[in-house]
Amino acid sequence: MTIELVPSILSANFARLADDAKAALDGGGTVLHLDVMDGHFVPNITIGPPVVASLRKALPDVTFDCHLMIENPDNFIPAFAEAGANWISVHQEACVHLHRTLQLIEEHGCRSGVVINPATPVHTLDEVLDMVHHVLVMSVNPGFGGQRFIPWSLNKIKTLAEVRETLGMSYRIEVDGGVAVDTVGDIVRAGAELLVAGNAVFGRGDIRENAKKLLGAARAAMLTRA
Ligand code: DX5
Ligand code: ZN
Repeated sequence: MTIELVPSILSANFARLADDAKAALDGGGTVLHLDVMDGHFVPNITIGPPVVASLRKALPDVTFDCHLMIENPDNFIPAFAEAGANWISVHQEACVHLHRTLQLIEEHGCRSGVVINPATPVHTLDEVLDMVHHVLVMSVNPGFGGQRFIPWSLNKIKTLAEVRETLGMSYRIEVDGGVAVDTVGDIVRAGAELLVAGNAVFGRGDIRENAKKLLGAARAAMLTRA
């Protein structure tokens, strides 16, 4: 299992998005996390397909992980795929026909992910675990960067790791919200491998150094994992 740092541009400077993203990738980030919010599913608004398409031109080879925090995601999946998304994740809570939506993502040439909010049990995903590329555990309530990590999320990560092992599945486990130097050790030891981080990378100080430090802490924790 490979630990990957997934910088979230939500806390970057949007006037110099590509440069900030490049600094985070230079510091060891391997996948770029793009948070899409519609002001309905979550109480905030961010970016749409045109921004993804512009970033794709600036960063032709980087994996784009589009986290859709929107209602009716089926209506927008084709546009995000066209704009250059590689992975698209949708919220269990936003999808009445989750199985169909995950199929739609794959039909558009992207890898599918499913996301659960802090109050949503892991077992609501039982029937789709074998069809997704990744499961994203929200460790804050979605909508904003810079919130505190919710410790109960560790139990959800552990459950997902155990189920994967027991059933011989291959989904990757991603965590999003409050990932920082002081929380990443427990997160990695619980079994997460795709580590989304916004504020800890872009919030203050040198982006490249922040990314390096966070990835270093994650890799150190990996060595102490049981
Ligand atoms: C929150 C977003 C996150 C956000 C995480 O709704 O999904 O990706 O950027 O931010 P931090 O790492 O600052 O908690
Ligand atoms: Zn996110």
